[in-house]
Amino acid sequence: MESLDHLRDEILRLVRQAASLEALEHARVAVLGRKGRLTELMKGLGALDPTARRERGQALNQLKGEVEEAIGHATRRLEDAALRAQLAEQRIDVSLPVRAESDGRVHALSQTIDEIVAIFGEMGFSVAEGPDVEDDFHNFAALNIPPEHPARQEQDTFYLPEQKDGSRKVLRTHTSPVQVRTMMSVKPPIRIIVPGRTFRSDHDATHSPMFHQCEGLVIDRDLHLGHLKGTLIDFLRTFFGIADLPVRFRSSYFPFTEPSMEVDIGWNRRTGELGKGGDWLEILGSGMVHPRVLANCGIDPREWQGFAWGMGVERIAMLKHGIPDLRPFFESDIRWLRHYGFSPLAPTMLHEGE
Ligand code: DAH
Repeated sequence: MESLDHLRDEILRLVRQAASLEALEHARVAVLGRKGRLTELMKGLGALDPTARRERGQALNQLKGEVEEAIGHATRRLEDAALRAQLAEQRIDVSLPVRAESDGRVHALSQTIDEIVAIFGEMGFSVAEGPDVEDDFHNFAALNIPPEHPARQEQDTFYLPEQKDGSRKVLRTHTSPVQVRTMMSVKPPIRIIVPGRTFRSDHDATHSPMFHQCEGLVIDRDLHLGHLKGTLIDFLRTFFGIADLPVRFRSSYFPFTEPSMEVDIGWNRRTGELGKGGDWLEILGSGMVHPRVLANCGIDPREWQGFAWGMGVERIAMLKHGIPDLRPFFESDIRWLRHYGFSPLAPTMLHEGE
């Protein structure tokens, strides 16, 4: 029978001489493909008598193994060569100046919430959250705002479509419903702050239909106005980084607190500078939790007292950083974000208020 030596030499030469991966693939198909030389020879085995078929089959199989191995070698050789050529061509010029990296910025709002949480965290508060879509009970009724109460109109509420039972859910107009949810689910003493989204139908340079508040609630025994005042004065002085920031408590009205107080800080109306200047700027609402609100939430007002407050997060961020307009907070303009954003590596900008 015809010796395979000649064929072996020819095939291996073909494989070894392939100058590219493409040429190698051609060679492989010509030998091992469906109509390749070896494949054709193997097809011919069936015509041989058993002894010859076994011998010839073994020889062909051995040759096939050798060819496959040679193809493997050649593939690696050609891939290495291609990689080397690519590396030589794409040599990095280390003398080129690097392109300036622009790292991400922390949004002024996130930064402000982080700072609020850090300050009250130090005072032993934890963060509570609640849903943006609220029912009448949590947003109004439990907070001592009955159906005919004018506060409902004042808050420019967004109502959702009527439900089967005729009631309408609302987009929460303040973070105060989370007070109710917490008092109804946690046993006092309670010490929480509630940063979160709130909604009112109102839009101009200082009002956005979606904005943020941070509520605070403390429930304990023997609490009085002094605790409220101390807590808020400490917070405001630390937050604004002004150790002697003037803080004024002015009597006011909220349905859910009694007595109620608006809190003002000292500033200069003309220059906008905080801390001095003889003018007052209203900054948050506060008060002792109304006994009826405690009772509505299953807390005995003869045993427990509470104080609470609510403040606008954008408002205090604007004051602290001299941001004149509220609208760009939510416009995602990269120039504004860069300008008023904070480095993620400097997470808070708190100065200790002595
Ligand atoms: N919920 C009030 C508002 O949106 C703010 C507020 C005032 C919250 C007094 C309180 C509080 O907890 O005691 O305008």
